Amino acid sequence: MPESKIGFYGHVKQYHNLKAEIDHAILDVLESGSYVLGPQLVKFEEELAAYMNTREAVGLNSGTDALLLVFLALGLGPGDEVITTSNTFFATAEAIWLAGATPVFVDSDPKTRNIDVTKIEAAITPKTRAIVPVHLYGLPANMRAIANIAKAHDLFVVEDCAQAIGARGDQFAIGELSDAVCLSFIIQKNLGCFGDGGAVATNNRDLAGEIRKLRNHGSLKRSFHSVGYNSRLDDLHAAVLRVKLKRVDEWSDRRRQIARLYDQGLAEAPMALPSAPPGYEHVYHHYVIENEDRDRLQTYLDSKGITALTHYPIAIHQQEGFPWGRGARLTSLPVTEKSAASVLSLPMYPELTDREVERVIEEVLNWSANRQAFRQQAV
Ligand SMILES: Cc1ncc(COP(=O)(O)O)c(C=O)c1O
Repeated sequence: MPESKIGFYGHVKQYHNLKAEIDHAILDVLESGSYVLGPQLVKFEEELAAYMNTREAVGLNSGTDALLLVFLALGLGPGDEVITTSNTFFATAEAIWLAGATPVFVDSDPKTRNIDVTKIEAAITPKTRAIVPVHLYGLPANMRAIANIAKAHDLFVVEDCAQAIGARGDQFAIGELSDAVCLSFIIQKNLGCFGDGGAVATNNRDLAGEIRKLRNHGSLKRSFHSVGYNSRLDDLHAAVLRVKLKRVDEWSDRRRQIARLYDQGLAEAPMALPSAPPGYEHVYHHYVIENEDRDRLQTYLDSKGITALTHYPIAIHQQEGFPWGRGARLTSLPVTEKSAASVLSLPMYPELTDREVERVIEEVLNWSANRQAFRQQAV
C-alpha cells in the first residue's frame, strides 16, 4: 500500500487530538452570547501575560495589527526610520510602512538567519526611532546585543515574535529586553486559533492601555472615542487559544525532537541545516534547510507526496514596488538574498510521526544521492 501524503501543516490533526475540549470551549462561548471583548478574551489575556511573564497582554485580530498598533502607540510615523530585517514575512515591514515610518533593512546573520547585530549600528541615523528584530523560524534574535544598541541610541525595541512563542534566548526571555512583543495566532503558527489572531505582550502598562484603545475605535468606554481601529481578538478565538496555550511547551518539545531527527538524518546531506547558538531554545516554527538546488528538491519531494514550502523566496527589499516611497534606502543584502534563493522548509509540526519524519529524511537523502541523475532527467 502506498504511504500517505505528508502535508506541511498539522492543525487538523491537532484539532482532532483536542476535539472534545475545543468543541466544548466553542459551544460554551456560543451559548454565553458574549463574543466580542467578553470574558474569554479577558481570561486569555491574563493567561497569556502569565505565560509570557509580562505585566500585560492585549488580544488582537492579527500579528500584523499587533505590530501596527504598537508602532502607533509608540508614536512612530512619517519621518521616522525603523531598523528591521528583510528576511521575514512581509507583514513586519508592511506594518512599519502602514504606520507611516520607513523600514531600513539590515542583512541577516548567515548562521542564525536573524538580524545581523554587527550591522545595526551602521544603519542608525538621526531619524532612527526603533529596532524590530524578528525571531525567525522560532529562534530568538540576539536580544542582549540589540537591547544594548537600543539603550546607547535611545531607541524602542519591538520584538516580532509571530513565529517564536515559547522560545528562549541565552539567559534572556522574550519580552524581557524590549518595549513590546508581537504575537500571531494565525492557524499555522505554533499557537494557532481557527483563523486570524494576534496579541501584544508588554511590561509597559501605559502602552498596553493605548493598544487596548487603538484596537477598539479609540475607546475604553462605551460611546467615548478617539481614532482607532477594529482590531479585537474574538472570544471564540480566545477560548480556543486558552485550550491550546496549555500545550504549547509540550508541542515545542516535540518540535525540538523532530528537529533532532532531521539534524541526525540529514547530517551528511549536502545542505545547510538550522542551528541554535548555545543556550538558546529554538521552537522550530519551521525547519529550514538551504540548498542552491532547492526548487528541484521541492519538486522531487512533491512527487513523493511530501509538501515542502519556501520561507521566504523573495526578500522584502526585492518585492515589486519596494521602496514604497518615503525615501527608503535600497541596499544590497547578500546573505538575505542568498537565503531567499536557497531556503526550503521541511514539514514540521508536533503531530508528525517519527515514521513520517524518517520518510522525509529518506527522500531528501535519495534526492541528494541521485541529484545528478534527477537533473539530467529534467533536461
Ligand atoms: C514574522 C511574522 N511577522 C508578522 C506576521 C503577521 O502575522 P499575522 O498573519 O497574524 O497578521 C507573521 C505571520 O503571519 C510572521 O510570520
